[in-house]
Amino acid sequence: MDLFEHQAKELFAEYGVPVPTGKVARTPQEARAIAAELFAAGSSKVVVKAQVKTGGRGKAGGVKLADSADEAQTLADQILGMDIKGHTVHKVLVEEGSAIAQEYYFSFLLDRANRTFLSICSVEGGVEIEDVPHDRLGLVPISPLTGVDRAKAREIAEQGRLPEEALAGAAEIIERLWAVFTDEDASLVEVNPMILTTAGEVKALDGKVTLDDNASFRQEHGGLEDKAAADPLEAAAKAKDLNYVKLDGSVGIIGNGAGLVMSTLDVVSYAGEEFNGQKPANFLDIGGGASAEVMADSLEIVLSDTAVKSVFVNVFGGITACDAVANGIVSAYKLLGERGETVNRPLVVRLDGNNADLGRKILDDAALPGVEQVDTMDDAAKRAAELAAAGA
Ligand SMILES: Nc1ncnc2c1ncn2[C@@H]1O[C@H](COP(=O)(O)OP(=O)(O)OP(=O)(O)O)[C@@H](O)[C@H]1O
Ligand SMILES: [Mg+2]
Repeated sequence: MDLFEHQAKELFAEYGVPVPTGKVARTPQEARAIAAELFAAGSSKVVVKAQVKTGGRGKAGGVKLADSADEAQTLADQILGMDIKGHTVHKVLVEEGSAIAQEYYFSFLLDRANRTFLSICSVEGGVEIEDVPHDRLGLVPISPLTGVDRAKAREIAEQGRLPEEALAGAAEIIERLWAVFTDEDASLVEVNPMILTTAGEVKALDGKVTLDDNASFRQEHGGLEDKAAADPLEAAAKAKDLNYVKLDGSVGIIGNGAGLVMSTLDVVSYAGEEFNGQKPANFLDIGGGASAEVMADSLEIVLSDTAVKSVFVNVFGGITACDAVANGIVSAYKLLGERGETVNRPLVVRLDGNNADLGRKILDDAALPGVEQVDTMDDAAKRAAELAAAGA
């Protein structure tokens, strides 16, 4: 889960990382009131910043300086409702303007290729990090065993070629950001820019944090979720612990294993070209186990998408063998019946792998209405696309 800038900064502040004082506004009037407070407290300028989970807000006109509360209101009025790379701005952060002497770049992230954590620091910040020449980036691998103490933090800042006067302040922030990174189970903590003010203080002026959802069971991050942006079907799937992503096609997809489901999406898209461009309606990975309940929940979610005209269940039996999956489908139909729902759209099932023959026999014997079996993935994708086109 990605956080909004204001959430990242609230988190930073909890860990003692200096950030500009500010608050979130959802209306121009609120923005005005916050700006007025900041001016009253001694700010000479305030900044109005679009809160969207995408980069390049500044370039898009989503970050603006105001000299008065009136101006802050006018700017908030312009920024609220703006579309930045497909994200609508629903809130703005109104914060004190900082007197910037220099802008730096800093981040902690997961370096998957080298199986370690990595810090990136550069004296050239404020711009997109992709545009900074490689030899101007200080890259320091971080061992999870030893982590980042003050000395390591200073080494990171030095590798980024930060000037002497910023080193102590930057090292303090970097050490605290490591605590954010590890204690909150983040996979990314980025500060661009980290600034040196004209008064010689180092501060985090922007914040980007990605939390690892796999660790959510041991965190209390529920309050950080952006419920307004969540797709209702995805939210319902999440509540049932299903790995579901809504797409905009007509062929519902249920498969076991993320890799198999990804290739199923490709195969269905390809097959669908023949049938007026039918496309997959979703990604749904039921994972290793395929209990009747998981199958029933999956069918329920996929079928509650009214755009779905056919469903393709693509399973390669491994540790969970095909007969278990077939029984899961049969029981799912019963379970859905008990819940007062009928499966009213065709289901194409392809079973292969461990105990495929037995699985196929179970489905044949059950003779569920609307269920067809097809032996290969390509043919099954084609049939599902054909049925979706017919049902459209
Ligand atoms: N509180 C502030 N005071 C003064 N200047 C600011 C403040 N916040 C941002 N700025 C200026 O605006 C620039 C862009 O801000 P910021 O980094 O938050 O947004 P962005 O880079 O456009 O967005 P993103 O990081 O999402 O791509 C900063 O580099 C800085 O020069
Ligand atoms: Mg930035």
